[in-house]
Amino acid sequence: MGDRSMVEQAWDALEKTIIFFKGKPVGTVAALDPDIPALNYDQCFIRDFVSSALLFLIKGRPDIVRNFLEETLKLQPKTGQLECLKPSRGLMPASFKIASIIGGEYLKPDFGDHAIGRVAPADACLWWIILLRAYVISTDDRALAHRSDFQEGIRLILELCLVTRFDMYPMVLVPDGASMIDRRMGLYGHPLDIQSLFYAALRASLELLIPNQENQMIIHAVNNRLDPLLKQLQENYWIDPDRLNVIYRFQVEEYGEEALNQFNIYSDSIPFYRLAKWLPEAGGYLAGNLGPSQLDCRFFAIGNLMAIISSLANEYQSHRILNLIELRWNDLVGHMPMKLCYPALEDADWRTVTGADPKNRPWSYHNGGSWPVLLWMLTVAARKMNRAELAHHAIAIAERRLLHDHWPEYYDGPDGRLIGKEARKFQTWTIAGYLLAKELLANPHHLNLITFDTEWC
Ligand code: GLC
Repeated sequence: MGDRSMVEQAWDALEKTIIFFKGKPVGTVAALDPDIPALNYDQCFIRDFVSSALLFLIKGRPDIVRNFLEETLKLQPKTGQLECLKPSRGLMPASFKIASIIGGEYLKPDFGDHAIGRVAPADACLWWIILLRAYVISTDDRALAHRSDFQEGIRLILELCLVTRFDMYPMVLVPDGASMIDRRMGLYGHPLDIQSLFYAALRASLELLIPNQENQMIIHAVNNRLDPLLKQLQENYWIDPDRLNVIYRFQVEEYGEEALNQFNIYSDSIPFYRLAKWLPEAGGYLAGNLGPSQLDCRFFAIGNLMAIISSLANEYQSHRILNLIELRWNDLVGHMPMKLCYPALEDADWRTVTGADPKNRPWSYHNGGSWPVLLWMLTVAARKMNRAELAHHAIAIAERRLLHDHWPEYYDGPDGRLIGKEARKFQTWTIAGYLLAKELLANPHHLNLITFDTEWC
């Protein structure tokens, strides 16, 4: 009974977040906290809406998702390739709001040009493709994805991501703060969270693009990218006890094609003793970032969970990631599923890497805080690998607190016991993430909306 009423109350709270444009539902606001100024939390964020959208699809309410996809597509810039002061062609906004003009209303996007720190989202366009695929799987409405404006939208996103820049890696190159972690956190370059989404979006786009003359080049480019991307991530981002031993004894300053230590990682840059103690024999995970002389050994939840969901991690690796979560439960889940990244940056690292950001002080917010929205991703990853008990356990922990605490945006502390210092209450993706996790566990056939098999066409 208690459980039913928690679900009912969550639905009541979620319904209130829906926003309407010209009379049609188009999305959900980020939060409805009555006690804190809204800032931009009264906007619909693309990444935040994904949890609500998947839930609406499962619950037979595809209209709102369709409206969202159509309206956000109209916000995507289609021209202006070489202009630095305008959002790039193909970019999707981080968020949008409904604004009024005399005689009507319009959608006002934020591409990062209004956001704190002026950070542009790289994840929004990737989530958009992933959500479009989920919509098509759920409704069988291929016609929407096959419409010429949708095909163009997908092509423009891919062109933006696949463009050759200065580097010659298969990963996509992004600035710091270009994802859910939208503040400086040492994530410039090739952060895992973005690479996992990138891989899933590439896989999704192969399912969505019509194999015609117009798409031929881009389909070819996607196919060319997938293999090296997979190889790079599975091999060079992977950390487990065996791999730690290899990295520990790496030669450095190797020149030429045969170099084993391609990125010239110096052993002293890696906290071996702490890691060797922390990493269980049966565990493993994908590193947070990789670049010249840089292997960021922090654990990032979105990247690792999405790697399992998208089959970017192979079966062996997927189980090892889940083993790590299980065996280091107190660190990664604790009193609220789950940590966005682990461990937190402290002291001098916090000052230099975050720019002494007080909102991201150690064990708070993005820097080692716990985010209940991750519950649905943990549930999908665990259920996909037939380890539903992990999801049951995590949901039970969340259920003890979320309703009572009024659905906070995040929790603080090394064990996730404190409600986030500046966390919004009635945060929409906390509510939707909980409902979605419950729904996916009860009806696992819906996992196919978001998971990918190992093989692609
Ligand atoms: C914060 C988060 C971001 C989220 C937004 C709205 O800026 O860092 O990931 O999309 O709030 O919830």
